[in-house]
Amino acid sequence: MADDAASPPLTVAIWRGDARKGSLVSYRVPNRPGQTILDVLTWVQRTAEPGLAYRFACRVGMCGSCALTINGLPRWACRTRAEAVARDNRIEIRPLRHFPVIRDLVADVEAFFERWQRAFGRFGPSGPEATDFARIAPDDPDRRAADAAIECIGCGICFAACDTVGANPDYLGPAALNRAWAAHNDSRDDRRAHLRAAVQNGGAHTCHSQGSCRRVCPVGRDLTRSIAGLKRKSLTAALKGKL
Ligand code: SF4
Ligand code: FES
Repeated sequence: MADDAASPPLTVAIWRGDARKGSLVSYRVPNRPGQTILDVLTWVQRTAEPGLAYRFACRVGMCGSCALTINGLPRWACRTRAEAVARDNRIEIRPLRHFPVIRDLVADVEAFFERWQRAFGRFGPSGPEATDFARIAPDDPDRRAADAAIECIGCGICFAACDTVGANPDYLGPAALNRAWAAHNDSRDDRRAHLRAAVQNGGAHTCHSQGSCRRVCPVGRDLTRSIAGLKRKSLTAALKGKL
């Protein structure tokens, strides 16, 4: 990219440090039209601070690895334009909330994905291995519910936005519960394991339905709806003694 910026440069304050200590360090970055936050970080690393650690893979909103706290809100760096979030030409970039920091902007996602396991966010077959593909009509209600939840890219933005996650370390969080809801609606699934996980300490019933997760999800998943589905189904199953 040519250094042809005509606007005054951006002042970009970036969190530098590790799990024990750190601080914001400011950099003057060319203010180029159309550049993303990921472009800004790349410019800083290539020209000012080669040791800057940050994470990305696809650069096009597919992999979910670039999520950060950008001017106070969790967002994906590769699809967030700097000009859209800068205030008075200033941008502050920190790691995602609720994730331990490994170094600089790189968060440790192990505990986040471990929650997907605890929520049973995976397929659990209801019978012996099938010999043929299951044929499920596109307008089947269960398939529609599963499809609506499944396109999560695992970015952690909803987890970072959720105040209940911050207040309760046992809470599984919106992404894990959304994945469990997607698996639960698979007609080939046993379905009960997700409901048993939903009623455990920190499960779906811990959610306060504040909706922060749904408002920030970059790919538009309705996490509040998924969690409400788990609450409803698990409560019904418990009352019928079918958990
Ligand atoms: S539900 Fe949305 S915000 Fe949460 S991890 Fe998936 S893509 Fe990211
Ligand atoms: S780099 Fe893959 S979603 Fe941003």
